[in-house]
Amino acid sequence: MGDDLLQRVRVHGVVPAHIAIIMDGNGRWAAGRALPRPLGHHAGMSSVREVVEGCLEAGVSVLTLFAFSQENWQRPAGEIEALMSLLEEYIAREMSELRAQGVAVRILGDLDRLTGGARRAADRIVAETGGGTKLALNLCISYGSRAEIVRAARLLAEDAAAGRIDPAAIDEEALGRRLYTAEWPDPDLLIRTSGEMRISNFLLWQLAYAELYVTPVLWPDFTRRHLFEAILEFQRRDRRFGRVLA
Ligand code: IPE
Ligand code: IPE
Ligand code: MG
Repeated sequence: MGDDLLQRVRVHGVVPAHIAIIMDGNGRWAAGRALPRPLGHHAGMSSVREVVEGCLEAGVSVLTLFAFSQENWQRPAGEIEALMSLLEEYIAREMSELRAQGVAVRILGDLDRLTGGARRAADRIVAETGGGTKLALNLCISYGSRAEIVRAARLLAEDAAAGRIDPAAIDEEALGRRLYTAEWPDPDLLIRTSGEMRISNFLLWQLAYAELYVTPVLWPDFTRRHLFEAILEFQRRDRRFGRVLA
């Protein structure tokens, strides 16, 4: 399924090196089936597997997934607990497969706020998949972009106060190097599921020139086929970066 689309992606043009996804709509997916919200989050795990496999097949190098925002800490305690145990379950279930696939997992966000079990699972998957060279998989958890930028500004201030950097030498690259995403190029394509037309405090700096793709499909229904459709749409876009095309 989706192999015809994969073929078209391959012949059609440049595949985005970095794809970021706001995985939204789990609650609505569950509500539509009269199920509790956590079951929607649980169902979303198979879509994570789908997009990881799709990225490996299409030759995408970096996949950054928004799994839990800083603002999501304001949700009911029961839902937060369910999401934390889901993270543990995902890591326990997927770790060996991710390793075998050559996927290197990183967790981006304020990890100090995670529960003990989730934190240990996060540290373990990062350590055990570190050797992966096929795909970098960034899971944004307890992540807020403004907080990330503030943290980078604080690191720059500390370096300036200690005399390690001249304030006059602070440029976009210096700030970018202090973001969680320092190692990777900016996303080329941002996908948001469930039809919402907003960024919700995700990668504000890094998305400066990303192509935006919003689909009404709810996250638990999202498959590699939908991923390939998004890439095909990306390949039809003119990326001008403010210039005039020759
Ligand atoms: C996305 O699904 C997952 C998280 C934000 C953790 P939602 O839980 O936001 O689902 P909707 O938007 O309520 O449908
Ligand atoms: C954004 O979804 C965060 C994640 C997908 C993890 P939300 O559902 O929290 O965003 P809003 O509240 O609709 O903006
Ligand atoms: Mg939502």
